[in-house]
Amino acid sequence: MHEPSTLPVMVIDDEPHLRITASQTLELAGYTPHCFESAEAALAALPANFPGVIVSDIRMPGMDGMTLLHELHRRDSTLPIILITGHGDISTAVEAMRAGAWDFLEKPFAGDELLDVVRRGIEKRQLSLENNRLKAELEAQQAALGPRLVGRTAVISRLAAMIQRISQVEADVLLFGETGTGKDLVARAIHERSARRNYPFMAINCGAVPENTIESELFGHEKGAFTGAVERRIGKFEHANGGTVFLDEIESMPLALQVKLLRVLQERHVERLGANEAIPLDIRVIAATKTDLKAAAEAGDFREDLYYRLNVVTLPLPALRERREDIPLLFQHFAVVAANRSGLEAPTIDSQGIASLLAHDWPGNVRELRNLAERYVLLGAAFDYRLDTLLEGAQADTQEPTLPRQVELFEKSLISQSLSRHHGRVTEVCQHLGIPRKTFYDKLKKHGLHADDYRHSSEP
Ligand SMILES: Nc1ncnc2c1ncn2[C@@H]1O[C@H](COP(=O)(O)OP(=O)(O)OP(=O)(O)O)[C@@H](O)[C@H]1O
Ligand SMILES: [Mg+2]
Repeated sequence: MHEPSTLPVMVIDDEPHLRITASQTLELAGYTPHCFESAEAALAALPANFPGVIVSDIRMPGMDGMTLLHELHRRDSTLPIILITGHGDISTAVEAMRAGAWDFLEKPFAGDELLDVVRRGIEKRQLSLENNRLKAELEAQQAALGPRLVGRTAVISRLAAMIQRISQVEADVLLFGETGTGKDLVARAIHERSARRNYPFMAINCGAVPENTIESELFGHEKGAFTGAVERRIGKFEHANGGTVFLDEIESMPLALQVKLLRVLQERHVERLGANEAIPLDIRVIAATKTDLKAAAEAGDFREDLYYRLNVVTLPLPALRERREDIPLLFQHFAVVAANRSGLEAPTIDSQGIASLLAHDWPGNVRELRNLAERYVLLGAAFDYRLDTLLEGAQADTQEPTLPRQVELFEKSLISQSLSRHHGRVTEVCQHLGIPRKTFYDKLKKHGLHADDYRHSSEP
């Protein structure tokens, strides 16, 4: 992708003087201006997927700015178009905005004003093109195998390269990262890229299995091995033979069991409880931890020998706040996925939204970001697509909102989207939502919505 500041800007005006000044200002700021003296000439020169924005005068001989706006939006509804209006011509400016112009400039305007609207327009353009690209990529990938690691920062590229390399060799792996940093995802990615992909991926949460049953869960038992062992049981290790065992939350594995695990890792065979027979194991073990195992070993909470055995290949997973540059991309990715799943449009975010995302600390890391993106898609309209409000809400109650509350917000969101799509025309909205007028008005009242507020909406 281009650097945003070198992107093209089309300037359309019949006055040569305005074209020259605007073009100089844009060029000095690093943009690439393309000037046209008529709307017709600009339309003829417009390439598909034009990455920049368009600045056009409204009053021109031949095709005027408003007609140009409609024609451009017919070709690409997300193209940001900035219209230039005459001095004090408020009614034309309002009309332009209603017709879907991104913004307007009133003559005469200063260079700074031009650069400001152009910069914001370019940001929006980049986001919607990125959205389209992600959507296409997602569709292409839906059939492809394996989970995807999203991110473009150096740490993520290095991590992806490590995953690729590790998947091709026989080594046990320790994943170390805070909650929500992708330990599960990475473990599965290693498995699915490896030669073991057609064998089981067996995930065991060491913290969630009761201490008295974990041993037989992992290693299995023979009939009569202990009271209650009425049947032979095959353990997870044996089940996973040929594949991968994922030991999640390894830090919570009981010390007594750690000895046995160490033996399995070293000797590569497993004995069912109550059996003498050693069953050969061909597995890769991937362990994951949220805590510093070295410190735990030093404190005596984790066996040192097991720690050294596991620590041969360690992959540290970065916290989201250590790779903030990936936040907007990840957010969009999850928004597009959520929108696709529910058949909604993926809303774009503006620079203010991005700033809110970047300012947040993300203790729940990528999982927290994914949840927020999903809520933004499903409930965003109820919050006027204000990310700061959504984020505040999420912080104020760290609990997920109750089901009735989420349903309520979703309802508000759908009604608001429908009102916006139908420009506040009640009959159409009721038809679209499939509810009687009376119900509709009751719901408007309940949610504090007003159909009139949507009358001038420029949403398609
Ligand atoms: N780099 C990434 N790209 C895309 N999705 C990611 C990435 N990292 C994490 N995720 C997604 O974030 C969510 C949380 O990730 P995951 O469950 O792997 O975290 P975890 O480290 O196992 O967390 P916990 O310690 O709480 O179990 C998942 O939906 C996962 O798909
Ligand atoms: Mg996990």
